[in-house]
Amino acid sequence: MTLTKCEILKKITEKRELSKLPEKDVELAFSHFEKRQVSEEEKIRLTRELLNKVFWPFRSKKLLSLKDKNYEWILRKHLSTRERLPFYGKLYERIFKNETKNFVLFDLGAGINGISYRFLSQKRLKLKYVGIEAVGQLVDLMNFYFKKEKFNAQAISMSLFEIDNLKKIICKEKGRKIVFLFKVLDSLEALERNFSKKLLSSISPLCDKIVISFPTESMSKRQKFRVKRYWLINFLSKFHLLRDDFEISGEKFLVFEKEQTL
Ligand SMILES: C[S@@+](CC[C@H](N)C(=O)[O-])C[C@H]1O[C@@H](n2cnc3c(N)ncnc32)[C@H](O)[C@@H]1O
Repeated sequence: MTLTKCEILKKITEKRELSKLPEKDVELAFSHFEKRQVSEEEKIRLTRELLNKVFWPFRSKKLLSLKDKNYEWILRKHLSTRERLPFYGKLYERIFKNETKNFVLFDLGAGINGISYRFLSQKRLKLKYVGIEAVGQLVDLMNFYFKKEKFNAQAISMSLFEIDNLKKIICKEKGRKIVFLFKVLDSLEALERNFSKKLLSSISPLCDKIVISFPTESMSKRQKFRVKRYWLINFLSKFHLLRDDFEISGEKFLVFEKEQTL
């Protein structure tokens, strides 16, 4: 079988869980194997394997279809939000303790974290939530939930590799801007090395505060990772000050902020 690149990319996304991914990410994943001396079937298999690792790690396939379930049921179906569930109140209290003005929260690589909006609204914060996520099914699920709960929130199906579009989305909103990058930088690096720096240097000048998180333990084996991430602190210090640094439930959070804000 000799397929064109376009046909190969189409074949890769025939799997239901990969069917709503941005083309850009599928193409990037395929580029890792395109020149390898193996059959087309093997290239397709390897690309799907990489995409599953990046987009579906430890997440229940039950999230593939819309279900009218409560927020706890949904948050428990994704490892990142499940681990955070008992601590969301404490986490948002710490991140937003000094926020008094209206702000827009951009959650990049949101997964289903937008469903935790109710913990933000409980804090009486005046915010609009914008989640950006590559997996279309998770975007549909968040938007379904936002509409049902009448939250001031929206999710957008898009790749973070589309930096220009991302910048447009951020610039379009007025006022104070806060960005979450929770457990997402490693996923981006798996498809393109050093992309984190490109992304951060593009969006940092547009944002007042950036909150980044990393797992401090491996998801399956509960092993401790060493997550000092000095490169990140040094790199972001060019744009923002490191205001806070703490760990909650196997997750390290770094809070960066522009000096003159607040
Ligand atoms: C480990 S999960 C974390 C989800 C969420 N930030 C949280 O901590 O609850 C990483 C998320 O980033 C998303 N992601 C990975 N690469 C992406 C890309 N290029 N564009 C948009 N989203 C991406 C994945 O689909 C996944 O939902």
